[in-house]
Amino acid sequence: MPINRTASTSVGVPRGLAGVVVTDTSLGDVRGLEGFYHYRQYSAVELAQTRGFEDVWHLMVHGELPDAEQRAAFTARTAALRRLPDEVSATLPAVAAAGRSGPLAGLRTALSLLGAAKGFRPVYDIDPEQRRADTITASAAVPTLLTALYRLGQGLDPVEPREDLSYAANYLYMLTGSEPDAARTRAIEQYLISTIDHGFNASTFTARVITSTGADVAAALVGAVGALSGPLHGGAPSRALDTLDAIGTPERINSWIRERVLAGDRIMGFGHPVYRTEDPRSRMLRGIAEQFGGPLVDFAVEVERHVEAILAELKPGRELHTNVEFYAGVVMELCGLPREMFTPTFAAARVVGWSANILEQAEDPKIIRPAARYVGPVPPVAVPLMV
Ligand SMILES: CC(C)(COP(=O)(O)OP(=O)(O)OC[C@H]1O[C@@H](n2cnc3c(N)ncnc32)[C@H](O)[C@@H]1OP(=O)(O)O)[C@@H](O)C(=O)NCCC(=O)NCCS
Repeated sequence: MPINRTASTSVGVPRGLAGVVVTDTSLGDVRGLEGFYHYRQYSAVELAQTRGFEDVWHLMVHGELPDAEQRAAFTARTAALRRLPDEVSATLPAVAAAGRSGPLAGLRTALSLLGAAKGFRPVYDIDPEQRRADTITASAAVPTLLTALYRLGQGLDPVEPREDLSYAANYLYMLTGSEPDAARTRAIEQYLISTIDHGFNASTFTARVITSTGADVAAALVGAVGALSGPLHGGAPSRALDTLDAIGTPERINSWIRERVLAGDRIMGFGHPVYRTEDPRSRMLRGIAEQFGGPLVDFAVEVERHVEAILAELKPGRELHTNVEFYAGVVMELCGLPREMFTPTFAAARVVGWSANILEQAEDPKIIRPAARYVGPVPPVAVPLMV
């Protein structure tokens, strides 16, 4: 079939847009060869090790870390926004009942409802302060929506949010109905901070494309949640743990992994589109997991060692290492999170990164509108007569 090359104004780019720079950003970057990433001018790992979630949220949407007064005001403001509008709470049981695919799928519907209930308007029509307020309203409600959807799906009543707890502690509280201990709260908080943002990943790009049309904040977040739900993006942590379960014992690691890789399967929790060295999030989360210790952690470390060696042998030169999802799954399991809440928990952090990207994109009036190369039959072919 002859290939028709389209307009001369088009520019070819690599598959998957890999490495293509599409905009300027002040939000952060990922340095894949170094194994380093940052939020604004700060190392993301250092932020996770030294700050609370609310501080980093403030940094992302206000552009600076808060001082004590700003921290108190921002914490109080966001905590007060955790409670859902009545019309949204009243509809969640139906969303949970319809959502057999779990809380993350339900979140798409719930965010649309929230945006409507809160009167979100197109970002094109509102000023930067109102846009920021809309992102904060939505982000503050995401943990409440996710935990309510999860509990309703389990036949349990949602747990009302508490304003006296931190974002991370309140999330665990709403999930389980009891106050979490300090070690688990801090472990989850560090995980949440470390996944707030990560360059131009698929869901962030999706949020920015939707924002570039001038649509409202809920529309951009719903699209981003859809992109995150795929196993090649955010859907891997529970699959990584499923892999550990499937392998079962240390003696089986070698044969199990070899068989899968030789069959062309991907080992979940390994490989990354940007990192060509250890993922710094993986290093940090392994450290947190090792502080808890125990047989699951020992086994995960052993599997990591073997898989890296086998991938280096069978896929030479690809530099495949653990990504964030491998130890994220382990840490979340250690903190008692149910597996179907692993990717939703990722969303409860990334919503802040999406928000910052929405705010930045909304400042640029140019719509994102790339092109595709048409490779079908050469047109115009006469439309056949109808039979
Ligand atoms: C993350 C991921 C999608 C990156 O994909 P990508 O940038 O498209 O990587 P590529 O497809 O270019 O991979 C390069 C090579 O390594 C292989 N590879 C990549 N990840 C692999 C994995 N986890 N297990 C086995 N092989 C893998 C690919 O098959 C490819 O082999 P080939 O050159 O023989 O075709 C991919 O590594 C993957 O699917 N990982 C498992 C899922 C996962 O953990 N997702 C969470 C991401 S944070």
